[in-house]
Amino acid sequence: MEHISDKLQRYKNYNFVIGYTTAEHIDSLQRFEIRDSDVFLVTYPKSGTVWTQQILISICELDGGLNEYKNNMAQMPWLEFSEFGEDFSLRPSPRLFTSHLTPALLPPGLVDKKAKIIYVIRNPKDIAVSYFHFSAGSRLLDTSQRFENFLEDYLNGKVVGSSWFDHTREWHSKRNQYNILFLRYEDMILDLKTAVKKICTFLGKNLSEAAIDEVVEKSAFKTMKTDSKANYDFLSETKVKKGGFMRKGKIGDWKNTFTAAQSDRVDRLLQERLWDLSLKFIWE
Ligand code: A3P
Repeated sequence: MEHISDKLQRYKNYNFVIGYTTAEHIDSLQRFEIRDSDVFLVTYPKSGTVWTQQILISICELDGGLNEYKNNMAQMPWLEFSEFGEDFSLRPSPRLFTSHLTPALLPPGLVDKKAKIIYVIRNPKDIAVSYFHFSAGSRLLDTSQRFENFLEDYLNGKVVGSSWFDHTREWHSKRNQYNILFLRYEDMILDLKTAVKKICTFLGKNLSEAAIDEVVEKSAFKTMKTDSKANYDFLSETKVKKGGFMRKGKIGDWKNTFTAAQSDRVDRLLQERLWDLSLKFIWE
């Protein structure tokens, strides 16, 4: 691993937070055995990861047969963090995993369309603002006092998760190789029930209308904010400030922070770098 800042290390073209993984661990993922019943949640940071974890866990719990763990992070661990130190091959099925990795770094067994992947995408301007505030409240990440400095790093991919543009391109251009469902954060905000139903169909879970309503209720921003298993306030304050993952949960907050010139710049980069993917974003 090459250290590229106080908090950031780089390996295989991807930026990791220092101290939470090793080159050996990332290499070992190439030998990680995938099961047909595995479900992966893959996101770029700040795209609604902890929210979608809560939705998936609630669906699987109501469907029955999910092993209990002390909180959502233990239930749905990030595959790239070696600090868990757990042998996941000993876990009963179905196993749920989370990852911010790009396709090349994840277990090759996923390419055989064995497991299911849910990929959540969020508009890159709201991600920038969310990431800026999150970094400010995290001792694990480089912190910028000024948004313009953070934006520079984010647009240059000098953050954990590397470049949002690369992540988005990699996953979208390789989508046919995977058994994958793409969801937009904004669609989930606008109509969570429809998103939950889509996920249930994708996972082959036949939940009753009442159970679906329960998933929606459990995953509502205000419910999660006080749900100690789901809101990540269980992380020690030396890692992430309380409430760090549950900030506003809105579409269009970027407008309160971006200048017109910064917004134009992101629009231009989107056009230059991702025009051929025909992505549509909801900005407000
Ligand atoms: P904001 O900072 O814009 O509020 P991640 O989990 O990938 O780190 O993403 C965090 C973002 O998801 C934060 O965005 C957070 O508020 C939002 N989020 C978390 N739970 C949510 C929920 N139940 N409904 C809507 N947004 C939620």
